[in-house]
Amino acid sequence: MNKGIFITMEGPDGSGKSTQIALLKEYLESEGYDVLITREPGGTTISEAIRGIILNKNYTEMSPVTEMLLYASARAQLIAEVIGPVLDRGGAVISDRFVDSSLVYQGMARGLGVDAVYEVNKQAIGKYMPDVTFMLDLPAEVGISRKKDQKELDRMELESLDFHRKVAEGYRKLAEKFPDRIETIDATLPIERISDLIKDRVRVILNDDAL
Ligand code: TYD
Repeated sequence: MNKGIFITMEGPDGSGKSTQIALLKEYLESEGYDVLITREPGGTTISEAIRGIILNKNYTEMSPVTEMLLYASARAQLIAEVIGPVLDRGGAVISDRFVDSSLVYQGMARGLGVDAVYEVNKQAIGKYMPDVTFMLDLPAEVGISRKKDQKELDRMELESLDFHRKVAEGYRKLAEKFPDRIETIDATLPIERISDLIKDRVRVILNDDAL
């Protein structure tokens, strides 16, 4: 049986994570993995309900601590119900965002502090940290203008440009802090090139596990 592999995709809003997740799924399936794709906040009935509260653009009065706890709650349920069981039975999980989003958005951009946010999230994630995290790096302006073209913006996307700059900068700092786990990828590269870089890294992890 394969050993479970947990991969997360991170980056500012509009950085192209979904496209890359779909391409990576095809690759992992060709390697014989049963692949589960999930997104945060969401991925279970309860977590999707929490997502509805967090992203509701009318809830402008939400405090940063409330926001952090809601993201952590959605995550705790997703881990308990979906991610944990799939990894335990040797499957592959690709998550569109995970704890690094909280470290950056709530810890850095909202100013709650990375360590404080991590402490709270430890309860939610238990032993399940990603084997590798791809950070699709993109200037904040580019990400937000891509999102505007796609859909109506949610509460987080409606934040100021200054907030989104802090997010993009925060991701770079986080990648420097965890260089072994987080691989930064230039999200302005062509889609196929990005996908090849991601697959190269995943291939190394799969081969290491086989040893
Ligand atoms: P979503 O529409 O899924 O954004 P994207 O398509 O860019 O991934 O909305 C998730 C939003 O929530 C996004 O703006 C990032 C934010 N977020 C946090 O602030 N903290 C978190 O822990 C997570 C998971 C997401």
